[in-house]
Amino acid sequence: MFLDTTLAALCAYLVLHYHEPSGITDGLLVILPALVGAILFAGPLTLWSCVTTTASYFFVLVLSVVLYRLSPFHPLAHFPGPVLNKATKLAGVWTTWTGHQHLTNQELHVKYGPFVRVGPNDLSIVDVDAVISVLGPTGMPKGRYYNARRDPNAPSNLIILQGEPHAHRRRLWNRGLTPESLHEYEAVIAKRASQVIAHFQETSSGDIDLVKWINYFTFDVMGDMAFGRGFNMILDGDKDGLWETIEQWALSAALISHMPWAIRWFERIPLVSKNLIKLRKFGLECAMQRMKAGATTKDLWYHLSDEAGIEREKPSVKEVASDGALAVIAGADTTASAVASLFWFLLQNPNIYKQLQEEIDTVYADHSDPLSTAKHSKLVYLNACINEALRLHPPVPTNGPRQVPEGAKARVVAGRVIPEGTQIYVPPYSLHRDPRYFSPSPNAFIPERWLDSDKTMESAAFIPFSFGPANCVGRQMAKQEMLMFASVLLQNFTFSFVDGFDAEAWPAQLHDYFVTTRGPLMVRAKPRSV
Ligand code: HEM
Repeated sequence: MFLDTTLAALCAYLVLHYHEPSGITDGLLVILPALVGAILFAGPLTLWSCVTTTASYFFVLVLSVVLYRLSPFHPLAHFPGPVLNKATKLAGVWTTWTGHQHLTNQELHVKYGPFVRVGPNDLSIVDVDAVISVLGPTGMPKGRYYNARRDPNAPSNLIILQGEPHAHRRRLWNRGLTPESLHEYEAVIAKRASQVIAHFQETSSGDIDLVKWINYFTFDVMGDMAFGRGFNMILDGDKDGLWETIEQWALSAALISHMPWAIRWFERIPLVSKNLIKLRKFGLECAMQRMKAGATTKDLWYHLSDEAGIEREKPSVKEVASDGALAVIAGADTTASAVASLFWFLLQNPNIYKQLQEEIDTVYADHSDPLSTAKHSKLVYLNACINEALRLHPPVPTNGPRQVPEGAKARVVAGRVIPEGTQIYVPPYSLHRDPRYFSPSPNAFIPERWLDSDKTMESAAFIPFSFGPANCVGRQMAKQEMLMFASVLLQNFTFSFVDGFDAEAWPAQLHDYFVTTRGPLMVRAKPRSV
């Protein structure tokens, strides 16, 4: 009996070796053990026969997979890494669950060097050469990791598309983020920033959770920008619990991205599908309201749905709704992380805060409006502080992997040959803290490194917005929003941590679920006389 089960399991292994589990190969995991059991016991199936056949079948199947992955015959055998990561993707699932994937990966790079095998068929590479050869224009397509982010009941959005469909959709996005479009969005950012300022002025105690208000600000801005209407979180709060939904969805998407083949089962878990359905509904509702209202400004919807009629074929409403929801989720969460980290670093470094305050007060000494972009080129130190916050706390700390296509030739990255099918991470968090590229003190917040030529500063290794054809399409919008919001907050208030707030513990609450979720940042905002 054991021999037959072993043979059946080995056959299944050989098929699964070349094909990820799918609708067809599901049979190997369910039907085959049942068949073997039926043949072996040639009589009515008993519970005992089912249990023993299935258990021995899966034992041999899992053992053969693990032994092959750890063997010298595996194409990634010569890359170092922890045994558990080489053996199973569950190691990656666990690290993601802890929220500290970025920290764990960095520890692995310190231990093993620039190349680490972080999964059975996954490498993490920390080398500036990988930025170009993996992410660059002649780099590689997005990995199977992204398949799990596909909503089976909605068209793919920009972040999931590949090749020509991606390039086509990206043209529409680019049109919505030209300097002229950014100029249109200035008024939106100014209106929402003024609402936050008014709220802080009215808060009698002055004690606030800065993270919450930054979240509301970026969410309302992205709503106005994408759909010509905000969600009024600043005025009404998060009535529908959208931030919680986004954060829960981010965690489940990050977990399942390690095993995209399991998405069909995972989606059936009510907690997971609930969040996905809520986000899809949110995108469609925004789309319907925007269509009913018509174009009042040239918002992102105007460009994504090609209201100007430039394209031969207009995208469908569902496609635009998917992209509109992506804009809100991708744009609000990342920018909020960046602004929150900026303020945490400023409050941790009073001398830097003081120097930045002097710059703000000097640049806007003539009572000019910090909510105009006219003086942004003069905010040299603020720019350096933002870059330094993005370097140490990149809002997308590990990013998604690219992949050497199946059936394609092996590729050379940073001098090493990488076989077909390998997923490659180029994690911004580790790259940004590599002493080869940022010295001295790569882990310290030193905005001056962006200004002094005597410091090691490899700008090609600075990739908070990723790099290449699928880099962040909204990076200029994010920069504009951060400069405007930080300037007006600093001009109007003096911030300090609330007494008793454990500021040191805050970075540990940054959880890397592809985007970063954040804990509360309790500060006191004392109005300044402007
Ligand atoms: C500080 C703020 C931001 C950071 C750090 C950031 C970072 C990133 C990164 C690292 C990627 C690449 C993801 C990948 O490779 O899978 C990305 C993609 C993207 N970002 Fe951002 N982002 C920010 C703000 C924004 C804003 C404001 C928008 C919306 C206007 C936006 C929209 C997008 C979109 C649509 C993509 C997908 C691009 C593509 O696949 O072609 N992001 N972002």
